[in-house]
Amino acid sequence: MEDMHEKQQAMPWWKEAIGYQIYPKSFKDSNGDGIGDLQGIRKNLRYLKELGIDFVWLNPVYASPNVDNGYDISDYQDINPEFGTMEDMLKLIDEAHDLGIKIIMDLVINHTSDQHPWFKEALQGKDNPYHDYYIWADGNDKPNQWESIFGGSVWEYVPAIDQQYLHVFAKEQPDLNWENPNMRQDIYTMIRWWLDLGIDGFRIDAISHIKKSPWHTKPKKDWAYSPFTNVKGIGVYLRELSKVFKEYDIVTVGEASGVTAEQAPEWVGKDGYFNMIFEFEHISLWKREKNDTMDVVALKKALGRWQKRLDYGQGWNALYMENHDVPRSVSVFGNDQPVYREKAATALATMYLLLQGTPFIYQGQEIGMTNMTFRSLDELDDVTAKNQIEELLQMEDNEDRKLEILELMSSISRDNSRTPMQWNTSENAGFTTGKPWMVVNPNYTTINVAEQTQQPTSILSYYKKLIQLRKTQNIFVSGHYHDYLPKHPQVYIYERFLEEDRMLVVVNLTKEPAEINLPTAISGQSWSLVMGNHPIGSHAADPLSPFKQQLKEKQKKLALEPYEALIYHVN
Ligand code: GLC
Ligand code: CA
Repeated sequence: MEDMHEKQQAMPWWKEAIGYQIYPKSFKDSNGDGIGDLQGIRKNLRYLKELGIDFVWLNPVYASPNVDNGYDISDYQDINPEFGTMEDMLKLIDEAHDLGIKIIMDLVINHTSDQHPWFKEALQGKDNPYHDYYIWADGNDKPNQWESIFGGSVWEYVPAIDQQYLHVFAKEQPDLNWENPNMRQDIYTMIRWWLDLGIDGFRIDAISHIKKSPWHTKPKKDWAYSPFTNVKGIGVYLRELSKVFKEYDIVTVGEASGVTAEQAPEWVGKDGYFNMIFEFEHISLWKREKNDTMDVVALKKALGRWQKRLDYGQGWNALYMENHDVPRSVSVFGNDQPVYREKAATALATMYLLLQGTPFIYQGQEIGMTNMTFRSLDELDDVTAKNQIEELLQMEDNEDRKLEILELMSSISRDNSRTPMQWNTSENAGFTTGKPWMVVNPNYTTINVAEQTQQPTSILSYYKKLIQLRKTQNIFVSGHYHDYLPKHPQVYIYERFLEEDRMLVVVNLTKEPAEINLPTAISGQSWSLVMGNHPIGSHAADPLSPFKQQLKEKQKKLALEPYEALIYHVN
């Protein structure tokens, strides 16, 4: 018993867990107003349970004027009425807990909405106690040329008080002043309030931006946002914040753009600020144009760097291939043409779900939802897409130009991952009985949950199997990481090992067949197939896949089909 207890303490729950990200607005509408809501999530908790999900990260559901879909919060302690009420939220937490699913919320504390009472007070002038909750410069001359991440200057002038405030994102999202201790205490009080309600942790939004450089600082040559991203000294605030988190048994995942693998142990090591962070190195490698090919070598290098840096207890990774800020992974890391889509989606799943860290699945990823072919510019909703469209139209405005922009948006816009969840073949993909707030991807007739639940060889069934594999083989949680053939332009091949035990993951990430020369460290032993995706979900006992059942000792080569994924266990 002593031992058991010690073991349990050494392995926190979130290391063995699988996370699922819900974008509430697009998940499931329960009342026909076309907008996803908390009731819609409650009704589908069973679906998540069957998939094997242990915790859910909810994108913001707080009161918000929705300039940036909830990332502009006007009241941290209230629920946006379009999603439901505080009572719905408490019910959701309870019902999820009854099923053994934890709930973590988005914590947006780099900025508020300009409609937040603090900002309204701040606009009253320098004497107002809330003025200093935000970041100001006197007069109307910009103190610098810093560019906002959402386009334009970071400065917005307020004539009434002859001052400008700083906003790293949209001008409706003024940045909070982390140098103000009262502001920080108010934020901590709010955090404790939520945790006392029984939520299980936070995904902390845009947290690497809370510290700003002195105004005269110039951006680095290749990086416009460097003056306000992971700026030296940020640790002082993060450490204070992490003390609040450590009062509770929760999980914390920081969104940490600009943090390098080298720096990661400071962020997520034993005394780190968070349990894990979403890094940006691998995710930024997606192909931006149709027919572009992915740089497999660069992807392996980026993922491998984080794997190695945090191995042997140095920290812990958050594993993800998709979220609400990037296009659909099957479209931009794989291939969404009908002949390849299922293979590519399952290849990507195999590749990242078995790495060391806690995997996150973004809603719809588990059925291989794809990018959207937008048909008119009004179909786009995202604030950054709109800004970009406006800018591009300013340079030139005609029908050809619009078509060009549509094509661009259909491959790069954040709206690609925000189209409604595809539940079944009924109207609007079963997402709503009303008019959906955002266009439904017409491919719901072939890509949807209901059909894939029935099919043993669907992407969804493959995800379930893969998750079960991860859950039953502790080596995928506790094992170390080693990769082979880093220069191979098509295949990612890595091993997880724990003492004598070894698992090998081999994935062809391209639409061409591939061949690898097996390194002696692999061919020195024989291996048996555990699972593969040709056909999808095939495994050793599967009569459909009599091939590649074994990697024989001294075997020199292994040939792979397009997007083939194979998982072997050492004999
Ligand atoms: C994060 C969110 C993104 C949001 C931004 C500003 O990057 O993921 O959706 O627009 O922060 O809050
Ligand atoms: Ca609704």
